[in-house]
Amino acid sequence: MTSNKRPDTMERITTAQQAEAFIEEQLKELREQIGDKKVLLALSGGVDSSVVAALLIKAVGKQLTCVHVNHGLLRKGEPEQVIKVFGEELGANLIYVDAVDRFLDKLAGVDDPETKRHIIGEEFIKVFAEEAAKLDGIRFLGQGTIYPDILESEAGIKAHHNVGGLPEELNFELVEPVKLLYKDEVRVVGKALGLPDSMVYRQPFPGPGLGVRCVGAITRDRLEAVRESDAILREEFAKAGLEGKVWQYFTIVPDFKSTGITDGKRTYAWPVVIRAINTTDVVEVTVEHLNPALIDRLVQRITTEVKGVNRVLFDYTPKPPATVEWECL
Ligand code: XMP
Repeated sequence: MTSNKRPDTMERITTAQQAEAFIEEQLKELREQIGDKKVLLALSGGVDSSVVAALLIKAVGKQLTCVHVNHGLLRKGEPEQVIKVFGEELGANLIYVDAVDRFLDKLAGVDDPETKRHIIGEEFIKVFAEEAAKLDGIRFLGQGTIYPDILESEAGIKAHHNVGGLPEELNFELVEPVKLLYKDEVRVVGKALGLPDSMVYRQPFPGPGLGVRCVGAITRDRLEAVRESDAILREEFAKAGLEGKVWQYFTIVPDFKSTGITDGKRTYAWPVVIRAINTTDVVEVTVEHLNPALIDRLVQRITTEVKGVNRVLFDYTPKPPATVEWECL
């Protein structure tokens, strides 16, 4: 598949049968393109790179090496899931890089959103290039490019949104088996490949990860508060049947404190901000109005279970005037 233009005749993949046909065709094309050469893939665990990994494992098995960089800004349980699904269940050649200290040390004291994003993107490329340099004979680079990425970069909108955008000087030939698919089709293919629902139906997640939700200069303790509150929010949304229904929901922990009281003692701690939104195009976004019982449960759990937090706020602002993330480009 070399053209970057989706043929007008290409049917939208909505059924398992269509997905199977797509998979069969891709396996054939991938084997033809790759032959007996080796492929490298940056595997974040997001749906696009996971589907590409699963396709490549089926097509060329151990000729593929996946690199999962844990930059410390992933959601709770994500690195473990990548190791379990790809390393253990699918038997991939998986290199897990614990780069947490490296990223967090670089980010220490940096409060400008653009500089933070820049450091995360640049460091990611460095770590990945270092891992690539340790391997012999890599000829191809797998990428989870999807059709909206092509359309948006052609329109000059979105190059900045891909933190994993790897530099051309790595000199690899690209393998992009889902580049003509829309996100919903990638999910149908992922499901047909047997990936877990928690991976296939994952909500969008910014490349710089939780880093953009730990507003201002990232500290390890406040980052942990973002991660733990996010995990509680996801758990409660799943229990309330909202998983897969609300487009995106997450927590933010700003860099300021307020007074509170716990067990008769005064506290001075951070607030957690909850944001839950719906959209079709991400250009305009509406807010999901939460039910009062869910609000109460979230407040109760987050203020008792998350260290360093004494208040929960709800961001009910649409886009525009607000952006989705609190630190966007
Ligand atoms: P904003 O904040 O721009 O977010 O209104 C729109 C959507 O894009 C996601 N987002 C990103 N996605 N890399 C990504 O892949 C990024 O750097 C990035 N920044 C924002 C955001 O979560 C929302 O879904």
